[in-house]
Amino acid sequence: MKRMKLGFILVTLFIIDVALAHGQIKHLKMDNEMIKKGKKCIECHATKHPGIVSDWKNSRHAHAGVTCLDCHKQPKNSKMGKKHPDVDVTVEEYISVMVTPKTCEKCHPQKVKEFNASGHFRGRKQYIKKDGLNKLITYHEGQNHPKFSKSPGVTGCIQCHGSIIKMDENKNPTADTWPNSGIASIWPDGSIGNCRACHTRHKFDIAEARKPVACAHCHIGPDHPDIEIFNNSKHGQLFNAEGSKWKFDDPAGAWEPGSYRGPVCATCHMSGIGDLTPTHNVSKRLKWNLWGKSSKLRNSSDPMSPLTGNAKKGRAEMEKVCFNCHSTGHTKKFFTQADNAIMLYNEAYYAPAEKMRKELAAKNLLKKNPWEDKFLKIYYHLWHHEGRRARQAAAMGSPDYAHWHGFFELMQDLYQLKQIYAKRLKTGKI
Ligand code: HEC
Ligand code: HEC
Ligand code: HEC
Ligand code: HEC
Ligand code: HEC
Ligand code: HEC
Ligand code: HEC
Ligand code: HEC
Repeated sequence: MKRMKLGFILVTLFIIDVALAHGQIKHLKMDNEMIKKGKKCIECHATKHPGIVSDWKNSRHAHAGVTCLDCHKQPKNSKMGKKHPDVDVTVEEYISVMVTPKTCEKCHPQKVKEFNASGHFRGRKQYIKKDGLNKLITYHEGQNHPKFSKSPGVTGCIQCHGSIIKMDENKNPTADTWPNSGIASIWPDGSIGNCRACHTRHKFDIAEARKPVACAHCHIGPDHPDIEIFNNSKHGQLFNAEGSKWKFDDPAGAWEPGSYRGPVCATCHMSGIGDLTPTHNVSKRLKWNLWGKSSKLRNSSDPMSPLTGNAKKGRAEMEKVCFNCHSTGHTKKFFTQADNAIMLYNEAYYAPAEKMRKELAAKNLLKKNPWEDKFLKIYYHLWHHEGRRARQAAAMGSPDYAHWHGFFELMQDLYQLKQIYAKRLKTGKI
């Protein structure tokens, strides 16, 4: 970043006026070459897409002289470079509508490096080879329809996880892979991720990314209701009571208690606070894997591993977040409560359910199609829905999700599984 800033100083700087569609004037600092080319793009797009240019105009990028060209220009011979769509003026530059992490990396290499080391990085990649999941998407949810079987994946999974972007012969992305807002698309240039998942285009705003709503597009719903959990927590109470008055636009590393009274998702999982440095690796401050069938301690540096992270260091960092506002005893005892609930789930719910499932499988007492088998359906809900809710809610302080949407339902799942199991063993039939 330092080298880049120096670059900006070394080039001849001009102040130019860019007249925008709605008559507003913006003073911009840009180098000579940039003015001519960037100005052309901006002026025309201001009339064609005032929404885009107005967002860009209000961004840090516009103020720093980062223009359309810095992000959309592609070398002619690159995998994604194509001619600009026909317009009145000749546009010589080759462009792409897609702007991948490879482009952001030119100026924000550290962010990309941290993202690439996180669980977010594997969002799409991890289920390429999972036959059961791919069968669920197209065969079951898509009903193996000759034309439309991909639709559940396209309108659902990829909008959170990302897609493997394919291009047609004109180097335009195909409709079954793009547009999508998922966290970790795999792009034609080989890069992986999606930097606009939390700070949307073309404002690319730090304040927006810090607000819980930036995570809620994906961390929501029956199987990972993190936004609901947060809203039900005391921290959510603080944010919902007065968060609109907190200061969300302090620079990274300088956003500290005082700017806010309580932590939000970003504070605990990403931001600098006290002597913790900010990180784009959301797995760094975790101890457990809480989305898996049973919770295991994190112990891997491979972002493709479900256990990416380091249990001891992760917990220590998370505690450091709390120590900014709570005493040691308060924090340690809160985590004792949470860890005990997580271990209760492992030992009293997952373990017996898995034992029954294995025995039924060995005796051929499970249907081939899991989605038609009552035992397997309840078993799935036990770990994937109720079990995750109980564990994540315990860890983030939401009594409603820990109890009523968590253990209360887990208990009923387990009793039902036991009944089905006993009946199948007794009758020898499904
Ligand atoms: C004279 C007007 C004009 C100029 C100059 C212009 N554009 Fe465009 N641009 C358009 C219009 C109109 C479209 C939309 C075409 C459509 O909707 O299919 C477009 C589309 C685009 C797209 C989306 C392409 C796609 O495949 O969907 C990008 C990216 C883009 N322009 C970037 C640029 C850049 C970068 C420059 C400067 C080098 C530039 N434009 C110059 C008018 C212009
Ligand atoms: C900091 C990088 C960056 C800058 C600067 C930038 N863009 Fe974009 N632009 C993006 C990203 C990221 C996307 C989304 C690409 C995707 O989803 O594949 C995008 C998408 C677009 C699209 C398609 C949007 C849609 O909803 O159809 C157009 C058109 C476009 N940009 C034009 C421009 C113009 C014109 C400028 C200059 C005023 C500009 N961009 C500046 C990163 C940038
Ligand atoms: C040509 C260099 C360049 C490229 C390419 C670029 N940026 Fe930036 N970005 C900057 C500069 C310069 C700043 C301002 C830094 C500052 O103010 O210290 C900035 C600031 C930001 C900020 C902070 C905004 C705020 O509100 O403080 C975000 C977020 C961001 N960029 C995201 C992106 C993303 C995402 C991409 C890719 C789609 C991208 N940038 C591509 C140079 C670039
Ligand atoms: C565009 C969707 C999307 C957004 C936005 C998003 N996430 Fe995620 N997140 C995911 C997906 C998908 C996964 C699961 C990735 C995997 O394991 O395949 C995930 C996983 C995680 C994990 C677990 C990582 C691990 O190693 O198991 C954490 C923690 C997390 N996200 C925190 C956040 C926070 C905090 C925010 C907001 C600042 C956020 N996420 C925004 C989609 C998103
Ligand atoms: C609303 C957004 C959303 C949708 C839609 C969605 N997921 Fe997820 N998925 C997530 C998030 C967020 C996580 C992380 C859960 C956590 O950390 O607790 C996740 C976790 C996962 C995991 C476990 C992570 C891992 O690394 O193994 C798999 C597998 C998965 N999703 C596959 C899918 C598939 C396949 C679909 C479509 C059938 C789908 N998801 C639909 C958001 C979503
Ligand atoms: C999961 C949500 C999320 C994703 C995905 C994400 N960011 Fe951020 N980003 C944030 C948050 C939150 C902050 C503010 C962190 C803080 O408080 O220090 C931030 C801050 C930034 C900043 C400004 C801080 C600084 O140090 O200058 C830049 C630049 C940035 N992000 C670039 C990127 C790039 C590049 C990518 C893609 C690799 C990306 N972001 C992906 C959430 C996200
Ligand atoms: C007060 C701090 C705090 C806040 C606020 C917070 N979290 Fe968490 N989060 C935690 C802790 C602690 C854990 C459990 C970490 C561990 O020990 O593994 C956790 C776990 C998670 C996980 C589970 C990862 C896994 O292994 O399955 C996800 C996903 C997550 N948080 C996302 C979010 C999102 C999204 C928000 C905001 C809506 C949020 N968190 C708000 C502290 C927080
Ligand atoms: C920026 C300050 C701040 C940070 C950081 C923070 N909290 Fe809080 N927390 C508060 C405030 C303020 C309250 C509301 C106190 C009340 O209810 O009177 C609160 C409430 C709580 C409560 C419920 C209140 C109680 O005493 O019963 C728990 C539990 C809690 N926090 C745990 C944590 C944990 C664990 C972390 C770290 C992962 C954390 N907090 C990080 C400020 C913070």
